[in-house]
Amino acid sequence: MAVQTQTRWQRARVVEVSDVADGIRRIVLAPEQPEHAAPGTHIDVRIGDGARGVRSYSVVRSEDGGRRLTLSVRLSPTSSGGSAAMHRLQVGDDLTVTGPLQNFPLAVGATRYVLVAGGIGVTALVAMASALRRRGADYNLVLAGRSRAVMAYLDDLVAEHGDRVRVHVDDEGTPLAVDDLIAGIARTPAAEGTELYMCGPIGLMNAISRSWAGHDLPATNLRFETFGSSGRYPAEEFLVRIPDLDREITVAPDTSILDSLEAAGVETLSDCRKGECGLCLAKVVDSTGTIDHRDVFLSESQKERSDRLCLCVSRAVAANSGSGEPAVLSLRLT
Ligand code: FES
Repeated sequence: MAVQTQTRWQRARVVEVSDVADGIRRIVLAPEQPEHAAPGTHIDVRIGDGARGVRSYSVVRSEDGGRRLTLSVRLSPTSSGGSAAMHRLQVGDDLTVTGPLQNFPLAVGATRYVLVAGGIGVTALVAMASALRRRGADYNLVLAGRSRAVMAYLDDLVAEHGDRVRVHVDDEGTPLAVDDLIAGIARTPAAEGTELYMCGPIGLMNAISRSWAGHDLPATNLRFETFGSSGRYPAEEFLVRIPDLDREITVAPDTSILDSLEAAGVETLSDCRKGECGLCLAKVVDSTGTIDHRDVFLSESQKERSDRLCLCVSRAVAANSGSGEPAVLSLRLT
């Protein structure tokens, strides 16, 4: 996926804040230089210094030519930076933001669209669903979450899209059966012309990718946004050793390996910082724990081999989490 970079920063004022689900805050910004945000766009928000002080949030809604941009932020339990700072915002506060950036465009002309949101990933798809409804397109919106209480915009989406919405809730015993969903798409006469747009936890997106490929559906019809992706395990502290540099660096639960290396003055390549481009790949020399791959760059078999990882998103967890001993990852930077 092409990554658009944009460094035109501007001020934006917080004009509304409200809670839209447990742990999810809706924040409406009024940028100094308004620009309409198309479906699939996000803005970058500066919450600290350098590249690691930037967070990306999907634009849930763009109103009045971009004079009001709505974001929604889930408070990460391990956050001491990004989401915690966003949740502290009050009406009248100023932020430094970019204009709308597009890495996840909604194509025109597909026979059918299926939008799949897991958890906070819904924020990337709300505007797309509205655009498809206005176009009179054939679409379905599939919403999956652990419980209704943590699913943002659920009632609004059901009210707007009616029976085009399918809701899957783990604690109601109706979890999303990924293979059934993809098999259902593959069985329809419109299968070859169906585009699937997804945003959610990495496990969900990997399962969809696997099933999509398994049903021989066109790879180019699968589109994704990685915001809000979380791993298979809760983030915990671990150690990274770089034998070639004789360095050992601690990676805190709310920081990436890439950020920790940069903070320690270790230079390495990166671009997207979202697990998409593969530029930050490092070789895994040794690991005492389990590697939690959170990228969408490596294939499933490469992740199983675990001889490389993306420094910007992937992590390690201790093999025996009760021991109190952090995992130790030895890496060779490429
Ligand atoms: S910087 Fe792109 S995958 Fe890490």
